[in-house]
Formats: sequence, C-alpha cells, structure tokens
Amino acid sequence: MSGKKKPVILLRTFGCQMNKRDSEIVRGMLEEKGYRFIDDEKEAEIIIFNTCSVREHAEQKAVSIMGALTRKKARKHKVYGIIGCVAQHKKEGLFKSLPNLDFIAGPSDIYRIPELICASVKNKEFKKTKAAAVDAQTRPLDYSDPVYRDSKTHAYVNIMYGCDNYCSYCIVPYVRGHEVSRPVRDIVKEIEQVVRGGILHVTLLGQNVNSYKELTAGLVDFVGLLRQVHGIPGLKKISFITSHPKDATKKLFEAMRDLPKVDKHLHLPIQSGSNRILTLMNRGYTAEKFLGLIADYRALVPGGTVSTDVVVGFPTETEEEFKATEKSLETVRFDSAYILKYSPRPPAKSAEFPDDVPKAEKERRHGILLELQKNIYKELHRPSSLSKRR
Ligand code: SAH
Ligand code: SF4
Ligand code: F3S
Repeated sequence: MSGKKKPVILLRTFGCQMNKRDSEIVRGMLEEKGYRFIDDEKEAEIIIFNTCSVREHAEQKAVSIMGALTRKKARKHKVYGIIGCVAQHKKEGLFKSLPNLDFIAGPSDIYRIPELICASVKNKEFKKTKAAAVDAQTRPLDYSDPVYRDSKTHAYVNIMYGCDNYCSYCIVPYVRGHEVSRPVRDIVKEIEQVVRGGILHVTLLGQNVNSYKELTAGLVDFVGLLRQVHGIPGLKKISFITSHPKDATKKLFEAMRDLPKVDKHLHLPIQSGSNRILTLMNRGYTAEKFLGLIADYRALVPGGTVSTDVVVGFPTETEEEFKATEKSLETVRFDSAYILKYSPRPPAKSAEFPDDVPKAEKERRHGILLELQKNIYKELHRPSSLSKRR
C-alpha cells in the first residue's frame, strides 16, 4: 500500500439514517482527498464499518463480521477501521477484541478520519500503535460538509446532533453526545446546495426534532425551521424524523397541514402502551397523552400517515402491560411499526434493572405484535377498506 496512488476503500454502513448521512460525509471527505470507493471487499485496501450499538445484536454483528475479515490471510496489507456508535461505545476495548483493527472514530470525531487513515497506513508499515479518535463530546459545528450524496433524488440533512432525553433503555445519548442544534443558516445553505444539484426531497434528521432550538438569531424552534426550509425555492418535499411524543405539539401538526411541501407522515415512537413502563423508560408522556396526540394529528392532517417504534420485554414488563401495548397498536392502527426486543445497553440506566423477561417470552411478544401489525397493514391497504384508516 506504499505506492503513490491512494488506496481504495470499502465503507459499509449499519444502523439508522444518521449513520447513512455520516457515511456520506466520510466518503465525501475522503473522495476530496483522492481516495476511491468500491464495493468489493477483496479489492479494497481499506475497510471501514460505520456501526450501530442500539441493540447488542447490532453491535455484535458488526464486530463479528469485522473479526472474520481481519482474520483473513490478505489482511496484513489492509487497513481496518470501525467508526460510529460502536467505536464510541467500546472505545480502545475494540483493539482487544479485534487485534488486527487499525483505527476507531466515534460519531463526533468523523472529521478526523482522513488523519487516522494516514496514521494507520504508516502504523501498518512500522507495526506501531493504533489510531483512535473517541474524545469529542459534541460534534464541531464549523465544518462545511462535503457535497457527496448517495442518492440523486433525496438528501438527508442533519438539523441537530446528539440527544439529551436519556430514555432509560437507550445508549444513543452516550454515544452521540449532548443535543446540539445546527444553525438555521447552515441548514438552509446545505439544502440550497442540494437543490442546486437537482435534489428535490430532503429529510431533516434529529433524535428529537421537536426540541430543535436555534438561539442565535432570536428563538427559532422546529416549526420556525420548517417554515424557513419550506421557503427554499425549487425544493419540493420535506420529511423529518424523529418526533418525540413528549415534545410534539398541535403547532407542529398545523404546520404540517399548512405547508404543502411537508410530507404528511409522522414517525411518533410510542415504545409502550403501559404508563408504568413508560415511566420506567423515562419517556415523559403517558399512553393517554400519546393517543391524544394521534387524535390531534389525524384531525389536523387528514389522510396523514403515522409510524412508530415499540420495545417489547422491557424489564418487569408483565403480560398485562404487554397487552396494553398491543391494545394501543390496535387502537391507533399505525401505517407501520418497528417492533424491537429489549436489549440491555449499559451505561443506559435500564441495564441496572434485571433483564427479567425471558428471551422466549420476548420473542413471543415480538411475534404477536409483528403479526398484529401485518394484519393492520393489510387491512389499511385493501382498497375497499381505505376508509378504515382511522
Ligand atoms: N430518537 C428516536 C429513537 C432512536 S433509537 C426516538 O426517540 O424515538 C431507535 C429505536 O430503537 C427506538 O425508538 C427504540 O424503539 C429502539 N431501541 C433503543 N434502545 C433499545 C434497546 N435497548 N432495546 C431495544 N430497542 C431499543
Ligand atoms: Fe434514545 Fe430517547 Fe434519545 Fe430517542 S429520544 S435517541 S430513544 S434517548
Ligand atoms: Fe443510529 Fe444506531 Fe447510532 S440507531 S444513532 S447508528 S446507535
């Protein structure tokens, strides 16, 4: 790998839309420096995984695939990196479980990846130490992200980084740092740029978009931001994820109704239909408040669709509490739902509770909700029953 030509890179992305966007930033940054990207693992000289740690399974999957790759014979000449949430979670411990791994970078340190790659290429030759960047608590706001995008028709745009909500089961605040809203002018500039490049649909990304706050030029909240983005000439469609029920408001639904470019779709994760479990989850709303929001949404945004996330088998969740979740799904009739089996994620708080719902029981509850949701979906999409959407 010591020739003058830059090595070719394989970058594989796990996890959510934020990781997809980060991978674009990483790729753009490296392409600007002359690196090329390919999909072929054999030909790649640098292999990077952008990883997710939301459930243990997701984390283990990335680590074990990387383990298998780094044990291959050809590995001596290659550079291997793990970036993203698993890098931030496991930090230098990853070098112990993956002795042939060369560098790691957390989500707030992705701008240092070119430097880490150079160090790793040198380290490979001289068999020196590993390169790590997992120190930044929040992402710097003064970077101008490169223009590379995976799609020619749609763009993800970060409006905020990190999360301050500390839902008790969730590792995201620990791996993505504190919540920081990007300045309105940077967001607008980025969207104007993608529109100039021919992209007409953007998805605004944040862990809780309704807590968006720009303080510099007077207070701009999420609805204020939506209005400004809506005003960008040439842009045709605006989607956004995720809305946290504790901060979603009628004002947001009114904006969805009034702004024609805004996609009439709301992703509103319920997580559980039991108030005791919602309290243990530190979600900050009750099942009744959630149902009230859905009623407001449907009244204000006729024909609007809604999706959700659900966790089954949270510590101490009883059959009755599970049934309350099942009932909520039946009542709301979401257009789609991501159903997840609870996984303890230390240092997230709930990992201190015993993970006492047996695996088989989590699977049973998971199966019941999947089946229920499948039937709801079928009913909603049977032409004769479209009127039953509510
Ligand atoms: N910010 C978003 C969620 C991001 S994580 C929100 O608040 O809705 C995506 C989803 O992963 C969560 O909604 C939750 O349903 C699921 N999840 C997070 N931690 C989990 C865990 N420890 N076990 C199982 N599912 C989990
Ligand atoms: Fe996790 Fe809750 Fe933040 Fe969503 S709002 S990322 S579930 S802590
Ligand atoms: Fe996203 Fe997974 Fe990280 S859901 S924020 S990639 S832990």
